[in-house]
Amino acid sequence: MTTAFNIVLLGPPGAGKSTITEELVHQLPLTPISTGALLRAEIRARTRLGRMVAPLLEHGDLAPDSVMDRVLRASIEALDPARGILLDGYPRTMRQALGLAAMLADYDRTLHAVIAIDVADSEVVRRLSGRRMCEGAGEPFPVHIDDLSSLMRCRERGGHLVQRDDDRPKTVRQRLAVYHQQTAPLIAFYHNQGLLHRVSGAGTPADVARRTLAAINDAVPGR
Ligand code: AP5
Ligand code: MG
Repeated sequence: MTTAFNIVLLGPPGAGKSTITEELVHQLPLTPISTGALLRAEIRARTRLGRMVAPLLEHGDLAPDSVMDRVLRASIEALDPARGILLDGYPRTMRQALGLAAMLADYDRTLHAVIAIDVADSEVVRRLSGRRMCEGAGEPFPVHIDDLSSLMRCRERGGHLVQRDDDRPKTVRQRLAVYHQQTAPLIAFYHNQGLLHRVSGAGTPADVARRTLAAINDAVPGR
């Protein structure tokens, strides 16, 4: 078994998984795997896989488990075995959760902790319906329509605002429904395995990242 540690970030859409991932990878020897970002890259590149999943993402539905298993396996295979993994957005179904343990074992890895970020549905809707991506100014970054300073930052850099297709209100409602139906049951599943750590998603991203780091330190002492 390698000494690298492997962590899952679980939480509803808009919980801040990707935001926290960006903060944590500067502080921990972890390589992030964001399955949503991987799928969006396939869609942008108009690959066969991208064309297949595009309508599912647009409606707020999940991509099929078999497809996600392939995507994840290819990502893990490409990794340096000495580095741990920070999974952002995988698993999202019970089948994926069951498959993950077996897949990690194939690469001599094990799952060390699952961090569930708690955010109320009303806050999810506020964050996602107001989110725009600032594009055309280097690496795209999210801004909120109520946050004047982030809007100005985008404008000053010559960027323009684009709404993620799946951030439209109807799709956000569907993503939340799918989360409650298919992903939330994983909280009890991982609790029963002794792997679950719950973290409040309230406060600033830095607050949430700090709590998450503390939870990981608790879960993997002496790492
Ligand atoms: P994915 O891209 O993973 O989307 P998601 O998890 O549904 O939603 P987000 O990425 O928006 O949420 P997040 O928790 O990362 O929050 P973020 O940091 O961005 O997946 C997209 C789609 O791909 C899925 O719907 C599905 O179709 C498909 N897919 C992906 N994985 C799959 C799988 N395993 N199986 C099947 N299908 C799969 O933050 C959100 C916003 O809030 C940002 O604007 C951010 O700036 C802001 N924010 C973050 N933290 C805070 C804070 N503390 N306070 C205020 N604002 C904050
Ligand atoms: Mg994300």
